[in-house]
Amino acid sequence: RKVVLAYSGGLDTSVILKWLQDTYQCEVVTFTADIGQGEELDHVRPKAQQFGVKEIFIDDLREEFARDFVFPMFRANAIYEGEYLLGTSIARPLIAKRLVEIAKITGADTISHGATGKGNDQVRFELGAYALWPEIKVIAPWREWDLNSREKLLAYAAEHNIPIAKKKGGGSPYSMDANSLHISYEGGGLEDPWWCPPDDIWRWTKNPEDAPNEPELITIEYVKGDPVAINGEKLSPHNILAKLNEIAGKHGIGRLDIVENRYVGMKSRGCYETPGGTVLLKAHRAIESLCLDREVAHMKDELMPRYASLIYNGYWWSPERKMLQTMIDASQERVNGEVRLKLYKGSVYNAGRRSPDSLFDATIATFEDDRGAYNQKDAEGFIRLNGLRLRTGAKRDQR
Ligand code: ARG
Ligand code: SIN
Repeated sequence: RKVVLAYSGGLDTSVILKWLQDTYQCEVVTFTADIGQGEELDHVRPKAQQFGVKEIFIDDLREEFARDFVFPMFRANAIYEGEYLLGTSIARPLIAKRLVEIAKITGADTISHGATGKGNDQVRFELGAYALWPEIKVIAPWREWDLNSREKLLAYAAEHNIPIAKKKGGGSPYSMDANSLHISYEGGGLEDPWWCPPDDIWRWTKNPEDAPNEPELITIEYVKGDPVAINGEKLSPHNILAKLNEIAGKHGIGRLDIVENRYVGMKSRGCYETPGGTVLLKAHRAIESLCLDREVAHMKDELMPRYASLIYNGYWWSPERKMLQTMIDASQERVNGEVRLKLYKGSVYNAGRRSPDSLFDATIATFEDDRGAYNQKDAEGFIRLNGLRLRTGAKRDQR
């Protein structure tokens, strides 16, 4: 039996690696992805080799992640429960896809991951894998073993000579997950929703009160609903995210502290930093405000929460998500132009937008003389007919 393990190189997945070998007597293939988490992956190969792993995959998926997952999601302006920009949720389907690909390449029939049995991530990995390979088998150690506490995990590591390396992020009291869209923190002190985390929890963003006293103006250029350049400089999808994270992080933009509803039914408190994503959401809405027809925009907004829940709940590879995506992508054909934004002490403000495909018509909208572009008399009948049923109702109420 051969198992492909989503392996971060950290303590948890190292314990899983050893545990899989011992418990299932199986050959383990490791898969580690660079999705912009900003961690050195140099230690991963030697570490996997220590456990006798022969097939070690370390893939740079940063561009694919930004281009094929983050950008399509931002075309929809997706937000879960009004706040969460889905940074972890959108990375899981990519990991699932690659796990299945590697299983096919190496002749494995099983995948394994380090998500617990209490969270969303297990659902996302596994629904993704089943959608892409119906026969795939899954081993989720957290749902099987009895190493259900930090202490037991550490004891197991010590017993099996698994190094508890003090790497970056190691020693953090939080369960963290990072990629080029966001970094998240859960657990530890955050399990008390009233508790306010200390300032040093935040890694990517400055405290807004310590951010520069001078606002910064930036310009983002859009082509078919996707950002392609910042301040006139063309950048790849990943570099767009990386650059915006840097600029917006400096201004303290994109912090979030929320209680959210997990798909499995429990509430969970988490802190998130999504600096670049927060700017992109604002910018995309601004360019859409010029380029989209009103009804198209409103319909997108009605469907957005559905689309966001599909991603949150792990249905990226579902037929209904793909159907919505086709619709959303079609709406973006004319979403082209530039947005200017002002970044200042934790906030991002609109500061101008222009587009060759703009539907904004100043000759119609003007408060000055419109030279017949719009006949104000037309509004009288428009209002009277729309008011017909209101007047009818009001008359009845008077009777
Ligand atoms: N609650 C967020 C989500 O479900 C973040 C999960 C973070 N994952 C983690 N392993 N800490 O998308
Ligand atoms: C986990 O449970 O592994 C992380 C949190 C989540 O998946 O929601």
